[in-house]
Amino acid sequence: MSKPYNRRQFLNQIAATGAAASLAAAAPPERTAKPMDKVRIGFVGVGGRGRGDLGNLLKMEGVEVRAICDIVEANVVRAQKMVTDAGQVQPEPYSRGETDYKRLCDRDDLDLVFTATPWELHTAVCVEAMKKGKHAASEVPIATTLDECWELVETSEQTGRYCIQMENCNYDRVELMVLNMVRQNLFGDLIHARCGYLHDLRAGKFNDSNGRKLWRLQHSLRRNADLYPTHGLGPVAQCLNINRGNQFDHMVAMSSKSQSLHEYAAAEFGTDSPQAKLDVALGDVVTSLIRTRAGQTVLVTHDTNTPRPYSRDYLIQGTKGIVQKYPEAKIHLDGKSPGHDWEDLIAAYADQFEHPLWRALEERAQGSGHGGMDFVQAYRLIYCLRNGQPLDSDVYDGAALSAVTELSERSIAANSKTVDFPDFTRGNWISRKPLGIVTA
Ligand SMILES: NC(=O)c1ccc[n+]([C@@H]2O[C@H](COP(=O)([O-])OP(=O)(O)OC[C@H]3O[C@@H](n4cnc5c(N)ncnc54)[C@H](O)[C@@H]3O)[C@@H](O)[C@H]2O)c1
Repeated sequence: MSKPYNRRQFLNQIAATGAAASLAAAAPPERTAKPMDKVRIGFVGVGGRGRGDLGNLLKMEGVEVRAICDIVEANVVRAQKMVTDAGQVQPEPYSRGETDYKRLCDRDDLDLVFTATPWELHTAVCVEAMKKGKHAASEVPIATTLDECWELVETSEQTGRYCIQMENCNYDRVELMVLNMVRQNLFGDLIHARCGYLHDLRAGKFNDSNGRKLWRLQHSLRRNADLYPTHGLGPVAQCLNINRGNQFDHMVAMSSKSQSLHEYAAAEFGTDSPQAKLDVALGDVVTSLIRTRAGQTVLVTHDTNTPRPYSRDYLIQGTKGIVQKYPEAKIHLDGKSPGHDWEDLIAAYADQFEHPLWRALEERAQGSGHGGMDFVQAYRLIYCLRNGQPLDSDVYDGAALSAVTELSERSIAANSKTVDFPDFTRGNWISRKPLGIVTA
């Protein structure tokens, strides 16, 4: 909205025709770091997810976990045992309160700080790590506000350190296969996508067992926004080459009323319970609609308060075909699929179009969390660091995806007014190269 209309039209056109690369000034080189024989890791936040991430990293050759931080000492002890059980030296503990991660970042024997804390700490830990000369990896979302997105971008640029949002859904089997097919032009020019995070988290939001902080609930009480946009948007952004020849341009968001979390609390804890009296800001279903510079639309849904089966509502649609996942993966390709019908994606196309990364790692990934994608993600992180290759996702990707939270919040608060995406790449998106088909 702040940009003149004709400039946007122009950029849409060049992004759509693929002429962008030749028009732009030379792109800054892809961030790389020297190959490292060992990746020495300090881990911050070893709750439910952190332990899963740690377990996968410990399966990787060349990983040494040197330090573990959590405000709950028992969690540190449990994680230390995971490390020693994996045959490594016991990592140093850090559990002297909320900011003890800073002491961990001060160590001079770490290459990477990995955080799986509650959302509000991700940016602070990553920034501290980069300022102390370490690469930073964070669970999703890597930022909760636009200011945090910019802080990450600026710190990564100033320090030359990697800052990666660990979006594991980019590595799920179907999403990888579809990316492979997109790269081989099976769907023609992409036109539309759908995605989201539709996950009944009502019980989890009120689960304070073992002294768990109700941080997810706190966000739902405070903010009416798409609080968790990256699981859905990550794989879609890769297909659409976001930040690499294309960008999210502007969006609108709308929220339904907020009712289901309150009803759940009343049924679970009693109508007079403190839980039932909470004022929930988050609408039950938050819907965002994004338009890209290349003229595609992306419909994003956030729904964590209603009773429903899990879905990321993944759909990619182009001029020559459409594919969707949830409840099962199905595809229609113009001229190939029968009539107006769907075909089963895996049965009909996996032999030919299985992503090479998945093909290579499927067996090793079995039983490693979320159907194997968590293992593949950890593998790629460590492989790239050890081989001096750019990571699959960078600080601009993390910022573009996480920005949807504040942008949706602003749009909803302004009666679904259009809001513009900041250009975190400062124009370099035009000439940055799309991610290729990586192999193991
Ligand atoms: N990628 C995925 O599939 C996936 C799945 C689940 C959770 N997550 C993400 O992982 C993160 C953690 O989620 P979770 O479910 O494990 O939550 P959790 O509450 O189980 O774990 C958070 C941990 O961080 C610790 N912690 C809190 N404040 C801290 C501080 N100041 N310093 C150090 N440690 C601190 C807590 O004690 C706890 O052990 C969230 O960002 C969540 O969105 C991602």
